[in-house]
Amino acid sequence: MSFSRCALLWARLPAGRRAGHRAAVCSALRAHVEPLTGALGRVSAVASSSSSSASGGSKAPNTSLFVPLTVKPQGPSADGDVGAELTRPLDKNEVKKILDKFYKRKEIQKLGADYGLDARLFHQAFISFRNYIMQSHSLDVDIHIILNDICFSAAHVDDLFPFFLRHAKQIFPVLECKDDLRKISDLRIPPNWYPEARAIQRKIIFHSGPTNSGKTYHAIQKYLSAKSGVYCGPLKLLAHEIFEKSNAAGVPCDLVTGEERVTVEPDGKQAAHVACTVEMCSVTTPYEVAVIDEIQMIKDPARGWAWTRALLGLCAEEVHLCGESAAIDLVTELMYTTGEEVEVRNYKRLTPISVLDHALESLDNLRPGDCIVCFSKNDIYSVSRQIEIRGLESAVIYGSLPPGTKLAQAKKFNDPDDPCKILVATDAIGMGLNLSIRRIIFYSLIKPTINEKGEKEIEPITTSQALQIAGRAGRFSSKYKEGEVTTMNREDLNLLKEILNRPVDPIKAAGLHPTAEQIEMFAYHLPDTTLSNLIDIFVDFSQVDGQYFVCNMDDFKFSAELIQHIPLSLRVRYVFCTAPINKKQPFVCSSLLQFARQYSRNEPLTFSWLRRYIKWPLLPPKNIKDLMDLEAVHDVLDLYLWLSYRFIDMFPDASLIRDLQKELDGIIQDGVHNITKLIKISESHKLLNLESLSAENRSRLSGTLKSQARRVRGTKAVGSKAAEPPVPNGGEKSLASRLVQQGLLTADMLKQLEKEWLTQRTDGKERTEPGTYSKGTRRKKKEPDSD
Ligand SMILES: Nc1ncnc2c1ncn2[C@@H]1O[C@H](COP(=O)(O)OP(=O)(O)OP(=O)(O)O)[C@@H](O)[C@H]1O
Ligand SMILES: [Mg+2]
Repeated sequence: MSFSRCALLWARLPAGRRAGHRAAVCSALRAHVEPLTGALGRVSAVASSSSSSASGGSKAPNTSLFVPLTVKPQGPSADGDVGAELTRPLDKNEVKKILDKFYKRKEIQKLGADYGLDARLFHQAFISFRNYIMQSHSLDVDIHIILNDICFSAAHVDDLFPFFLRHAKQIFPVLECKDDLRKISDLRIPPNWYPEARAIQRKIIFHSGPTNSGKTYHAIQKYLSAKSGVYCGPLKLLAHEIFEKSNAAGVPCDLVTGEERVTVEPDGKQAAHVACTVEMCSVTTPYEVAVIDEIQMIKDPARGWAWTRALLGLCAEEVHLCGESAAIDLVTELMYTTGEEVEVRNYKRLTPISVLDHALESLDNLRPGDCIVCFSKNDIYSVSRQIEIRGLESAVIYGSLPPGTKLAQAKKFNDPDDPCKILVATDAIGMGLNLSIRRIIFYSLIKPTINEKGEKEIEPITTSQALQIAGRAGRFSSKYKEGEVTTMNREDLNLLKEILNRPVDPIKAAGLHPTAEQIEMFAYHLPDTTLSNLIDIFVDFSQVDGQYFVCNMDDFKFSAELIQHIPLSLRVRYVFCTAPINKKQPFVCSSLLQFARQYSRNEPLTFSWLRRYIKWPLLPPKNIKDLMDLEAVHDVLDLYLWLSYRFIDMFPDASLIRDLQKELDGIIQDGVHNITKLIKISESHKLLNLESLSAENRSRLSGTLKSQARRVRGTKAVGSKAAEPPVPNGGEKSLASRLVQQGLLTADMLKQLEKEWLTQRTDGKERTEPGTYSKGTRRKKKEPDSD
């Protein structure tokens, strides 16, 4: 519609009504003209946007992440139906025909695509636009007039486009601010995020070598002799160890973890040295020496960002990195971008370690100083129970135990006067604890993991993991000056040797994480978008250089969705979502929700409230389920403490909660001390389903894994073969694989056959060691364990 036609309509109005409608018509004209000019200026706009994307090298966004907002149809207006008064009421059937015609026009679809509306968005926007028009009681004047004009052939159906586009931008606000979002999520030059570090010239020293070669030791020597220093470790236990070592060496050192701050100076002032978990290090405090331990963790899909931040951001004259040689090239490249040179210091293992030529085969062959490493709690329970049946005592360490309990178990195992000489542990011992282990026995080589896409996979452990775990045997500082490594099952031994002998792939990229400020700016542009959706859009829009990747933010999104409905400011919501929680623990998840709810009601979470909430006092565990419940309560107290450092007013009773947590740690310690009793009771009450593979099944699965590992060199998920049953002898050219290849059998048919075959076998006479029945068709997927 033209200006002249609007003006004509205006002139047609009776004088008395002009004043009343002036504002409405003026805004209608304005609204009409702006999008129209936008549409006409299309060619230049498209040209400029394509040139900007060419310069930024940005890819097309994943539009499936754009969740449409709801635009409600207009109800009756107090001013009446101005459009109808200016023209005439619309014939809805006519309007429907016009809209259908508009939707089908190829030119319109193409024009939409130029404005970022791909087929999916175009369709969604059109449905919403049509509903708006058909269901509104009175339409906006400009739309009413244009529709009326089209009905009377005074305008072309394409003239609807500006109104359609305006509507599309309302339901997909991201269309309006794509360039801004791209700028905000530009993660291409991370070194620039740390101006303090860039203002100084740092000396970077990389201590490289195998496990137990003294890397951390040498870095810590520098740290202790410096006037000030920061140690950044991967685990709370490691930060604690350095904190204690430093203070014992007469170098006052504070401790900072997510849940704990300990200052040692009598006046509460900060000491010149601090030991912290890597996420907690300050990138604004100047230090003489910084130590970043286990630098290869920079590649970790979820936590890698913390190592990247420490590496690029620590303000220290000397930065000492300790870790695998696989990280040297990447670190050197990253430091090239900051203009800093890397000095590499190589170390050799301090004590010899050998892979044995025989597997343990039976728990009857256990010797003092043995550590059996399992990758699931169920295996831990099963193995400790079988050890107890043999009249031996074992210590138990797994990731979800409180730190105090882990240390108590480690102490028991290390104590030469304690009868407990066997350790059963998950890979939680892979980094951190100093243990007197002579021989590491891999109970299995399969560990469930979450891949970069957040999918669960069952894979043989990586070379890096195997080396880390194996490296716990024969520590230089322990009484065993020689280490040994083997497997429980004969069939796994060759695979273990193969895994250990593989070269470790060089690390290619370092993790990154959006900051709260970046997400806040996204939220400013997309105010009605949920935090979880904002993260998805951020990650999709973000641009990173090849040396970096954006970390997996699934845990953050999980928490964001959990508390989405609770009214909180974005900053507060963001902090709640960064709280580290175990999402497999329902009680911990519901506690996050409860804490957020209390916070939003402005009700401080006091000691007495929390005691009631966790039903304190708690009784010692009577079975494994009780023990797991207590572990979850311990995690909830950790969550409280973590939040208390971020929201001191709302979580005011940290020190009382810490005392409570210590008491709980004691109860859990006693429980774990008697863990075999708890397992026995749980078994007799059928509370525990200790499912494990029989020796034969293990061997077959191991064969399959071996051949797969050979084929894919450990890069492809074993889980992706989930539908394929273990085939006898595990050869690549087994009958089963050939039949599948030839299309004579499907994966499902094989699965069914496998089930039937196993049922027949288990009905027969398989080995009947308690807790080792093969009930299912294959190893049950177990939950991964982490610290
Ligand atoms: N020169 C040394 N003098 C005394 N003790 C040492 C020396 N070097 C290393 N140690 C001790 O040997 C043990 C292993 O050393 P360290 O922890 O530094 O090894 P690492 O290479 O960092 O191993 P990992 O890769 O497992 O972290 C530690 O207990 C450490 O204190
Ligand atoms: Mg070390």
